[in-house]
Amino acid sequence: MRILSGIQPSGALHLGNYFGMMRPAIELQEKGEAFYFIADYHSMTSLFDADERRKNTLDVALDFLACGLDPKKSVFFKQSDVAEVTELSWLLSTLTPMSLLEKGHSFKDKSAKGIPVNHGLFAYPVLMAADILIYDSNVVPVGRDQKQHVEMTRDIAVKFNEQYGQTFAIPEPQIRGEVALVPGVDGQKMSKSYGNTIEIFGDEKIIRKKIMGIKMDSRPPAEPKPDADKNLAVQLLKLVASIEVGTDYENRLRAGGLGYGDLKKALFENYWNHFADARKKRAELAANLDYVNGVLADGAAKAHALAQTVLKRARRNCGLE
Ligand code: ADP
Ligand code: TRP
Repeated sequence: MRILSGIQPSGALHLGNYFGMMRPAIELQEKGEAFYFIADYHSMTSLFDADERRKNTLDVALDFLACGLDPKKSVFFKQSDVAEVTELSWLLSTLTPMSLLEKGHSFKDKSAKGIPVNHGLFAYPVLMAADILIYDSNVVPVGRDQKQHVEMTRDIAVKFNEQYGQTFAIPEPQIRGEVALVPGVDGQKMSKSYGNTIEIFGDEKIIRKKIMGIKMDSRPPAEPKPDADKNLAVQLLKLVASIEVGTDYENRLRAGGLGYGDLKKALFENYWNHFADARKKRAELAANLDYVNGVLADGAAKAHALAQTVLKRARRNCGLE
């Protein structure tokens, strides 16, 4: 079984990225042959600062390795180190109906907000399909918001196979129910674009302030809260502590007697402890960038070899060779 996923270097990674995509991906590296990459080509659709892209790309590499991606088990690389993916994207685009891309939510959301939409953003799902198909991927662990993209990939792959003969494996998205959508400090989906994130490796003071600033209602501590399971801090505690600890706080809130301040303090403490080891590892990696760059170079070489084989198969089947 081949597992593949990618993450854009478009800003500091947060708990939504971690619980929605990174942790499931890291767990899956035990279960098959895993390919994980930093989607720097994709970041070009919305980030236009070269230095920032370079810095973010290194940050994602450090974050992922610090959180447990093991380069002995997984192939870890930068998307743009395998330029073949852009050629495959072209082949796929010729079989992708405009009407399919017009349904794409990232394009629709941005244009609805009045953000100018470039062609790269419109064609984003085609490049993503190429990412997935060029490595003969079977399983794609992602958060719920990426499900549509994986479904589009399946549609495009089926179409290519029907038109030009069996070429691509048909991938399945893998979305973990309990972490499909991690809420941000304002209760909406946690996202870099909403400014509601808790960063995995955030500054202690800043994150403490963000957590203590989570808005709660004005019911006094003693009042029982029958809707305790919907409380944002309880939901996040279940992730950064454990279901048991989170449920314990939920029960105390439901019974009455637990103040919101104490609940938020517990959330901060558990968040900080959850990433304590990873924080230490990240500092070590940051002091050893030659190692990190070496991991990415090795990963690129392995990914490149596989991509060349699959691209050749596609070129042959569609009559370019
Ligand atoms: P953002 O919305 O912050 O820009 P990305 O779109 O770069 O995040 O997402 C990278 C990965 O993290 C994707 O697999 C996505 O599904 C997952 N992810 C992002 N935010 C969340 C969230 N709030 N809950 C669950 N998964 C998420
Ligand atoms: N679109 C994904 C995101 O924003 C990143 C991505 C690019 C990806 N190519 C991929 C994810 C291929 C999984 C597989 O999060």
